Amino acid sequence: MDAASVQFGQYPPARRTIVHVSDTHLLAGNVALGGRYDTAANLRRTLESVERLGIRADAIVFTGDLTDLGEPAAYAALREAVEPVAERMGSPVIWVAGNHDERPALRRDLLDLEPSEEAVTGVWDLGGLRLVALDTTVPGWHHGDLDDAQLRWLQGVLATPAPLGTILAMHHPPLPTHIPLFDILELREQERLASVLAGTDVRAILGGHLHHSTSGTFAGIPVSVAAATCYTMNLARPAVEVNGMDAGQSFHLVHVYDHTITHAVVPVVDAPTGDYFSAEWVERMAALTPAERLETFSRKRGR
Ligand SMILES: [Fe+2]
Ligand SMILES: [Fe+2]
Repeated sequence: MDAASVQFGQYPPARRTIVHVSDTHLLAGNVALGGRYDTAANLRRTLESVERLGIRADAIVFTGDLTDLGEPAAYAALREAVEPVAERMGSPVIWVAGNHDERPALRRDLLDLEPSEEAVTGVWDLGGLRLVALDTTVPGWHHGDLDDAQLRWLQGVLATPAPLGTILAMHHPPLPTHIPLFDILELREQERLASVLAGTDVRAILGGHLHHSTSGTFAGIPVSVAAATCYTMNLARPAVEVNGMDAGQSFHLVHVYDHTITHAVVPVVDAPTGDYFSAEWVERMAALTPAERLETFSRKRGR
């Protein structure tokens, strides 16, 4: 018995499920990132966690900084780590470029395309849910931008609505941050993107880049930023002293319902976990009437 086959509340099960992963920052030869972080091991732990979900995700989306230096061997290592997991899950992988990536190598070594500095964009039809990957990177720089050509292309894509609406995936999130360093590396001229998105069917924006999970709205559209698999920003500090730490890694589980989209943060931890709830428990509940379920599971004892 799986969760999608029962409905105990007022919402039918999600129509689509997306796994949102970000900032893997792999290095050739698995050199320790910044001399501190084993990015390959941390990605492996994340992928083990993703596979333990036991779902067939409609897509696994990686929102950029796939590699730290854009090295061909790092893209090869990324494929080697991710593709078998995605294949076992039956899920397509969607790669988004980040400022640490290099477009030519990403195109050649990850996407099997001709190497060029052309923006890495794409459109996927996930059973009626449209996912659009944007490329906010600026060759040679770490801040983000979207040029006229890409905005015109996006406008063309969004001119026709999709049955279940559209999700945008981009590396630099169109959000303010409370950490000064990220303001230097922000997505510039965001009002131009806002004017393209006005009146379209875009229901959510997925981002990365910040190495911590956060959310907000942009032009009225919910924005959800996944933390990183490599290292995360220790936010339990004054904003001017925020630095990386080898802890707090997580990914997001995105559920697309008819009228809302939820983004659950899934910490990648190895912690002792209870075993009270199970498929067998859900099956027992499913055998009851709604009133019996309330009585069994909602009623406070002794009142
Ligand atoms: Fe990053
Ligand atoms: Fe980044």
